[in-house]
Amino acid sequence: MKPDLEDIDGALSELVIETVDTPVVILGADGSIVRFNSASERLTGYFADEAIGRKVWDFLIIEKERDTVKSIFEKTQGENTPTHFTNFWKTKDGQQRRIEWSNNTIRNKLGDVSYILATGIDVTDQVATEFALAETQAYLRSIIDACPVAVITINEQGLIQSFSTEAEHCFGYREAEAIGRNVNILIPEPGHSQHDRYIKHYLETGEKKIIGRARPIFAKRENGEKFPAMLHVSEFKDGTRIFVGFVEDLTHQRMTERRLEETQFQLQHAGRIGAMGEIATSIAHELNQPLTAAASLAGAVSLNLKKTDYPETKDAIELLEDVVGEIRRASEIIRQMRDFIRKRKTEKSLHRVNKVVEEATAVALIGAESAGIKLETDLVEGLGELQMDRIQIQQVLVNVIRNAVDAMQETTEKRLKISTSRIGGFVEIRVEDTGPGITDEMMKRLFEPFATSKESGMGIGLSISKTIIDAHQGKINAINKESGGCVFTINLPEGAYDEAAKRR
Ligand SMILES: Nc1ncnc2c1ncn2[C@@H]1O[C@H](COP(=O)(O)OP(=O)(O)OP(=O)(O)O)[C@@H](O)[C@H]1O
Ligand SMILES: [Mg+2]
Repeated sequence: MKPDLEDIDGALSELVIETVDTPVVILGADGSIVRFNSASERLTGYFADEAIGRKVWDFLIIEKERDTVKSIFEKTQGENTPTHFTNFWKTKDGQQRRIEWSNNTIRNKLGDVSYILATGIDVTDQVATEFALAETQAYLRSIIDACPVAVITINEQGLIQSFSTEAEHCFGYREAEAIGRNVNILIPEPGHSQHDRYIKHYLETGEKKIIGRARPIFAKRENGEKFPAMLHVSEFKDGTRIFVGFVEDLTHQRMTERRLEETQFQLQHAGRIGAMGEIATSIAHELNQPLTAAASLAGAVSLNLKKTDYPETKDAIELLEDVVGEIRRASEIIRQMRDFIRKRKTEKSLHRVNKVVEEATAVALIGAESAGIKLETDLVEGLGELQMDRIQIQQVLVNVIRNAVDAMQETTEKRLKISTSRIGGFVEIRVEDTGPGITDEMMKRLFEPFATSKESGMGIGLSISKTIIDAHQGKINAINKESGGCVFTINLPEGAYDEAAKRR
């Protein structure tokens, strides 16, 4: 049944309505469909015959939009200008299509609405593409923001286009503040004033000076602080040319390196002092006896001489007394030196045990002998801090770990395990190796000075270690494992030691 369309007469309009590839629907004043063009048929799957006479909201509009559509329909009737809105159509097979509508009223001679002309554009696919694009962008952005280095993009003018989350952390600018500003705000002098020229030079000559290769630079934070960083720049063209900079803040790494170097230096230094102390103690011990003996012998000679009457002996007696005096003085110097060394104060403060262990391990494993050694660490969490002389404890650890490394030079299996744990009021540090173990002979003298099986060893590492651990009210022990290799355990008291330290 063809509707009677007085108002849109003529074959031309008819032709247009049927030819256009977009839905055109004409509604009567009550909302029932009077025209349903072939594009509408293709879009919805309903034939014109099925649609005509029914109200759009009864079958074409998705449920939750029905009321809105009805109210728009009423509004359209009262207005003369075209109205625009978007809604979803439900096709015969249940799909939803998003349509952007332009509606206009067709009025009779009295000015009443006789029809409403609705022309639509199906934007479903376009919206889906836009959505997918936005999603891809959001996805990319989330990757960039998860990137542990700062990611910054700039355009050909050097103006910042995007600024990742890490860039915000690293440089101290918010993305909104950074965008649109010249990237040279992130560069200290001399690069700061030169950067525009660098870009210009590259754009003119195509000569790549930094693109594609990482290079160390200094960068500048918002608060003016300069910091060492590694910069990697790449470029891509997306219509316009964009440069992407990846900036890795090296401050922390440099600090760790420096701290390791310092620790190594301090350890060597302390090691030398410790070694000197040990040697001095031994020398004092060794010398004291012969010196005492010499003094008594000289004393005895002078006594004997005194008993004789030879006048020539008088000078000799005086000289012998001087000898005794000098020997006593020598003994006294040695005694003082030994006391001084014994009293060498430990400088205690609170240190995180695991950190102390980690640093010592790093220092101990520097060097070629450590090649091929598999390190396994098992540092228990939540160990917290202990009162200790960090350098001294690290000296102990370095020596014990070095001994383990030395012991594994000849073995095929080279596994070093370093662990920490808490055992009955003590923090225990264990160093296990898969070396040959300690010989019975060595076990007896292990912590004595000059006990060594090594050609270049002094044999004082463990004796110093014992002195240090004793001064910390701790214990150091070694046992051979049944499976081969040995375990050194160092136990440092937890709370009790703090108390003891306070009393001292
Ligand atoms: N993990 C180990 N496995 C086997 N033997 C060991 C181990 N640790 C120590 N020893 C033995 O104990 C000895 C004494 O060790 P100590 O650290 O006191 O001296 P050193 O390593 O020989 O010399 P240095 O004074 O340079 O440290 C070593 O020479 C070695 O024989
Ligand atoms: Mg040693």
